[in-house]
Parts: sequence; structure tokens; C-alpha cells
Amino acid sequence: MAEKKQPQVATDSIPSFMQRIDWWRKATFGMFIHYGLYSLLGRHEWIMNRERIPLAEYEKLAAKFTAENFDPRSYARLAREAGMKYVIMTTKHHEGFCLFDTALTDYKSVNSAAGRDLIREFADAVRAEGLGLGFYYSMMDWHHPDGARCLHDEAARQRFVEYTHGQVRELMSNYGKVDILWYDVPWPLKPDGWDSLGLNYMVRSLQPHILINNRSLLPEDFGTPEQKVEAMAPYRAWEACLTMNDTWCWNYADHNWKSVKDILGLLVQSARGGGNLLMNIGPKPDGTVPQESVERLQAVGKWLERHGEAIYAMERARTEWNAGGVSTVKGNVMYYHCRNWFGSELTLGGIESKVRRVWLLTTGQEVDFTQTFEPTQQLKMRGLPEESPDEHMAVIAIECEGSPRQRLGAGHVWLDGVLPLEGAGIF
Ligand code: GLC
Repeated sequence: MAEKKQPQVATDSIPSFMQRIDWWRKATFGMFIHYGLYSLLGRHEWIMNRERIPLAEYEKLAAKFTAENFDPRSYARLAREAGMKYVIMTTKHHEGFCLFDTALTDYKSVNSAAGRDLIREFADAVRAEGLGLGFYYSMMDWHHPDGARCLHDEAARQRFVEYTHGQVRELMSNYGKVDILWYDVPWPLKPDGWDSLGLNYMVRSLQPHILINNRSLLPEDFGTPEQKVEAMAPYRAWEACLTMNDTWCWNYADHNWKSVKDILGLLVQSARGGGNLLMNIGPKPDGTVPQESVERLQAVGKWLERHGEAIYAMERARTEWNAGGVSTVKGNVMYYHCRNWFGSELTLGGIESKVRRVWLLTTGQEVDFTQTFEPTQQLKMRGLPEESPDEHMAVIAIECEGSPRQRLGAGHVWLDGVLPLEGAGIF
């Protein structure tokens, strides 16, 4: 292999992990966007591979890719309205078509019917809205001639790795400050084959504040549970990514939309485990956002206006699930999210911390309560409204003396700071 040019980087100029991750932990909620040639076919972003569409035929989509209503300001505005704090978009998905102006291939939106660098517009729009900017980049590439050959052919591997590193360098050099680099599918190489270490070293030399996910096969800054909310080991930052229906890209036949309540439930579970939620939208062929996504995200945003303090920047909760809900925790307060509303009285068992004050976060109403520790731990709340004060999910704030702790035993192993995300059956 040719002598490797080590990028010049003063590593002491890279902020510590705690400094870099701070805004992202507080952000809690982000938007994912899947848009590409596959959007035109409207079935699946894996369509080229799943239907074995010949490359020459698939490439013709570029001539039809007009993106005439692609307006990333509308994405960024929607994200802000939804209470999301950062936006991550596909710069190149597995199909290999680039939405950014790369010098390394002609297969790009600049040369398509659209004739635009969509990522440039996207980056400007996201920053203008004051949100964090993230680039998704698929390492797997079905279009590049060496994308699969690299597995068995060393010369091909060198060419393909040079291509990949070159494109990532372009993304890190030509679009101003980038906050997140979100790799995807590193097939078919291993970390050594990709030189992932050198790749990410280069990325950090160009973007010292950046956060990098774990999909270049190195752990880097955060883990990425997909289509499920699952807390990772304590002290590991994580972000669950989920689709709003079943498909990442626009799919005209997929009507399996999550309800607002479902999305809030995912958000609660993420916040409860000290993680982030990355909720996806798949713009239509022309670039507009499906109305189903717009409506849901706006409703989530409205709910967050009132309940945001129970969602953003939460600690990993040392609390349990109760009938009808689970809680998030910050400081001395546990926020109990009522997925089911049982009426004017509610009892929570197992709270070991002394409760000082209870109020309905949803309305501000103070709530009467009694708390016993002997013979059993019960917090009984009375005088609550008969009907849920929120159409999706009301929240009750419970302030304790010290950090809220709740233990309900029954064979459950409860260790300080370690909590399996129970109540998943509820949310
Ligand atoms: C999977 C899919 C890909 C999607 C990604 C999002 O890796 O292969 O299509 O973009 O999940 O996390």
C-alpha cells in the first residue's frame, strides 16, 4: 500500500468525550431523513438489492430525480417544531448515489435532473434553524465497481477504501461545522480493511467537536440500537433509531404509522434509559414530507412544550415500571408518564425516597398524597382529575429528598445505576 499520509492533527485540540457529548445528551431527540433515488420507486431503500434491479437500469433513476420540492428548510422547521434538536440526513445510502457534490464520482444529485447539491442546502438549512447537523454515510456501496470486489481483491480494496476516505474527507471539509457523523453498514470489510481508525482520526482532525457513531466497526462515541429502544451498558452513550412506519424511505404501501402516543412512549423509554431517540422521516419522491409524519411530529412538539422538562437531559432512571406507566428522572424529581389514566387516585409502590411534593406537570395542579414506608412502601395520590388531562399522556412530577429510587423486588436484580428497561411491555 502506498505510504499513508497521516493527517496533521493536534490531538490536544480535540475536546474530551464529556465535552463533546454534553449538547447531544441534552438534545435527547433528533430527526433522521432517508432520501435518495430509491424514494422514486417508493418501496424500500434496499429495492435495488431486493429486486435485483440491474445497475444500468437503476442508474436511469438519476435522470428522473428532480427533487423539485426538496426544501430542507421545511425539514429543519418541522424538526424544531417537533422539539428535535438535531437532524441527520443520508448523504449516500447503500445505492451509492450521492446527494452531495463529490469529485470522486459522477453519480450524484448535481448531475441528476435536480442539478443541485442537496446536502449543501440541507446543511445550511439545519444550521439556520439552530439545530445540530448530522451526516449519514453508508460505507457499503452497490454502485462502486469495487464495493463488493474489495472483499477478495486487494487492489480493489485499496481503491474502494481510498474512495470512501476521500468522500468522508469531502463531507468533513466542504460543508462547514458538522456535529455528527453517522456511518452505516460497513459490509464487506473489517475495521482493519477499512482502516476505520485512520478514517476517524482524519475526521476528528477536520471536525474536532464531532460525534461519531459505532458503525465503522469501532465503538467511537455512541451506540445505535435500531428499531428498538434498549439501554446500553451504563456510561455508554446511545441513540435508538426508529422508523415512523415500517420503512426508512418513502413507501407508498406502508401505512403502519406509529401513533403520537407510541412515539411519546419511545421517547420516554429513551429518556428513561439516559439515551437519545432518532425518529425517521422518508420524504416523498419530490422531497415533501408525508403528511402523516408532519402531523405526528407537530403533535409530539406540542406535547413537549408542556412536558419537555420530563424528557430532555434525563438521568438513567433508578425507578421501576408501574401499572400504566414508567418514569424518567432528573435531579430529585421523578416524572411519572401515565400511558394509562386510572382516574382520581393513583398508587405507586416501592418508592424508597421520601417524597416532598407532587404535582401534575401537565396542568400545574398540586396533588395531595400520603406516603408510607411501613409495613409497605406506598405513595398514594388523591384528587387527580377523573379523565387524563392530556389526550396522549399526562405526567405527574414527584419531588423527593435526594435522588429518586424505587425498588419493587420480586427477583429483580437492581444495581446502583444499572437498570434494564423494564416496562417495555407497557410502552
Ligand atoms: C439499516 C438499513 C438501512 C437504514 C439503517 C438505518 O442499516 O440497512 O437501510 O438506513 O438501518 O439505521
